[in-house]
Amino acid sequence: MPSAPAQRATAVPNDLEAYWIPFTPNRAFKAAPRLIARAKDMHYYTPDGRAVLDGTAGMWCTNAGHNRDPIVAAIQAEAAELDYAPAFQFAHPKAFELASRVAALAPGDLDHVFFCNSGSEAVDTALKIALAYHNVRGEGARTRLIGRERGYHGVGFGGISVGGMVNNRKLFGALLAGVDHLPATYSREHQAFSKGEPEWGAHLADELERIVTLHDASTIAAVIVEPMAGSTGVLPAPKGYLPRLRAICDKHGILLIFDEVITGYGRLGHAFAAERYGVNPDMITFAKGITSGSVPMGGVIVRKGIYDAFMRGPMHVVELFHGYTYSAHPLACAAGLATLDLYREEGLFERARKLEPVWAEAAMSLKGLPNVLDIRCVGLTAGIDLASRPGEVGKRAYDAMDKAFHEHDLVIRAAGETLVLTPPLIVSEREIEEMFATTARVIKAVA
Ligand SMILES: Cc1ncc(COP(=O)(O)O)c(C=O)c1O
Repeated sequence: MPSAPAQRATAVPNDLEAYWIPFTPNRAFKAAPRLIARAKDMHYYTPDGRAVLDGTAGMWCTNAGHNRDPIVAAIQAEAAELDYAPAFQFAHPKAFELASRVAALAPGDLDHVFFCNSGSEAVDTALKIALAYHNVRGEGARTRLIGRERGYHGVGFGGISVGGMVNNRKLFGALLAGVDHLPATYSREHQAFSKGEPEWGAHLADELERIVTLHDASTIAAVIVEPMAGSTGVLPAPKGYLPRLRAICDKHGILLIFDEVITGYGRLGHAFAAERYGVNPDMITFAKGITSGSVPMGGVIVRKGIYDAFMRGPMHVVELFHGYTYSAHPLACAAGLATLDLYREEGLFERARKLEPVWAEAAMSLKGLPNVLDIRCVGLTAGIDLASRPGEVGKRAYDAMDKAFHEHDLVIRAAGETLVLTPPLIVSEREIEEMFATTARVIKAVA
């Protein structure tokens, strides 16, 4: 008989080797780890109990603040009540309740919700729905998907294909066929130090006409954009850009998808950025803020007409061959319902809207500091571009993020050579002041 495997230790303090950390320079991290053990409201706590101000809402997700009591209680209660129900062919009540609540917050006739577990899955789901929608309507030649340079749509093959970040694409082969890209909406020359949506750049939406001329509208299924490109360093949509994109999509029968994985749930002062811009897309992807980061969840909200297009054929046959084991997981639904209650009870989307001028003022106060090339902000987001050190692109921002955590008790993000701040929506004016004062100190420290 083979001998039993040796008992594994259940805790191996200080052994950081086995965990392959995503989107992280592993060797640098393991040499000086940034460990977080606990969180409450606006703060993280390190294993040795140091309080660290969260300037990033985790990763754009803990919009209601950390470990909020009602969300914790809802998750605990649901874990005791229903651990899991099959996601296919069966369902549980909270899935319907949450779908209705999500739909009620969405604009126009976006009123049906497909659940998944992350932003990446939401994006791939939306792209698949777009392709299938045209197919079931007899327009199966519409197979092309249009993304945008500098866009981030997660890490699935669909998402990296329509995404426009070279490092996320270049090692992974040919990706999806038939994808094209709009140009990025950012130009430092024309937009530097704009507060909110820049004046320059609406005309860049017209590039979609060029793409249509090249491929013909009859081959294009959908356009997907972030209303504000977050992961490449906060690129707000230029004034008038999104309505123009909507008009061109309408003209050519192309579906418009807003990837609202980070702009959803209050980040730009509304339930969805679509509302801020007065533009109704055909689909909205969401994740992150739906549960305030507490349990993984994502989803796609679709217009009634899209859902209805699938509701045909024999009643016993599946209408869309797509879904995940953990679609609408009970814990995620319970967390989502408690989170939406909290957003409503505390008026957090309105709070973000009211704080936006204070936030923008504080962000722009960093103009003139050494190596600061541009500052952008919209809603409760800020991106601060730093000049690179010769031959070391990204190192200055990385060092700033590292120093902020280890020496200044602040979590900020480094996205390439951009420092990104996106606090929980419960942030106070005093904490906003503290965040930017600390960021200023850190920028000087890496000069
Ligand atoms: C706009 C956008 N789409 C999709 C994603 C992917 O989400 P996830 O990491 O949950 O897969 C992100 C993540 O930041 C995002 O910002």
